[in-house]
Amino acid sequence: MKLLHIDSSVLGPHSVSRQVSAAIVDHLRQATPGLGIVYRDLASAPLSHLSGSHLAAAQGATPEAALQQDLAAGQAALDEFLAADIVVLGAPMYNFTVPSQLKAWIDRVLVAGKTFKYSAQGVEGLAGNKRVIIAVSRGGFYGPGTPAAAGDHVEAYLRWVFGFIGVRNLEVISADGIQVGPEHREKAMAGALQAAIKVAAA
Ligand SMILES: Cc1cc2nc3c(=O)[nH]c(=O)nc-3n(C[C@H](O)[C@H](O)[C@H](O)COP(=O)(O)O)c2cc1C
Repeated sequence: MKLLHIDSSVLGPHSVSRQVSAAIVDHLRQATPGLGIVYRDLASAPLSHLSGSHLAAAQGATPEAALQQDLAAGQAALDEFLAADIVVLGAPMYNFTVPSQLKAWIDRVLVAGKTFKYSAQGVEGLAGNKRVIIAVSRGGFYGPGTPAAAGDHVEAYLRWVFGFIGVRNLEVISADGIQVGPEHREKAMAGALQAAIKVAAA
């Protein structure tokens, strides 16, 4: 069984989503003998933004030498995603959505013919064999019925992204209100870390 652990916060050791994603992975590691873990840090080793040259290369154009290494990095990100049975993803909210580093990863992983395809029935997800666990951290509160609910483009977005490629087994652990004050931060962290150790074993 293979687990892919991805972080995308730029806040290093101060990051909430990193602490929560690490707690989920630690819990699963202890509960699952022989679990193979691959770690990808999108903040320290970011993928570049998708460009017209990337798309042209995907259509068969010969890439310039400078692009070749970058294409290989994107392919490696896709391959390790395809190989994973479980994906644990740290996803903070920056300006109401995911960090641009995470978006750049999504742009390399949502690839027609690899993780989804169009058919007569519409879109078909090709990555439905995975379990995805997302550790979301947000400065405010965005739950259903809250005034800011419509401003959440992290959880709703990621649910859509993974649903689009066929993932039905998706869990979200969120730490909300991180910037509201120290008390809220502590409570949210404690709640999320508690939820992390309750995640079902692989
Ligand atoms: C650049 C930046 C932008 C942020 N934008 C938002 C925002 O739009 N809404 C919000 O509720 N919190 C926002 N926050 C607060 C973060 O969501 C919160 O601190 C969260 O813990 C970040 O996750 P991390 O600690 O794993 O990086 C922002 C924080 C940073 C650093």
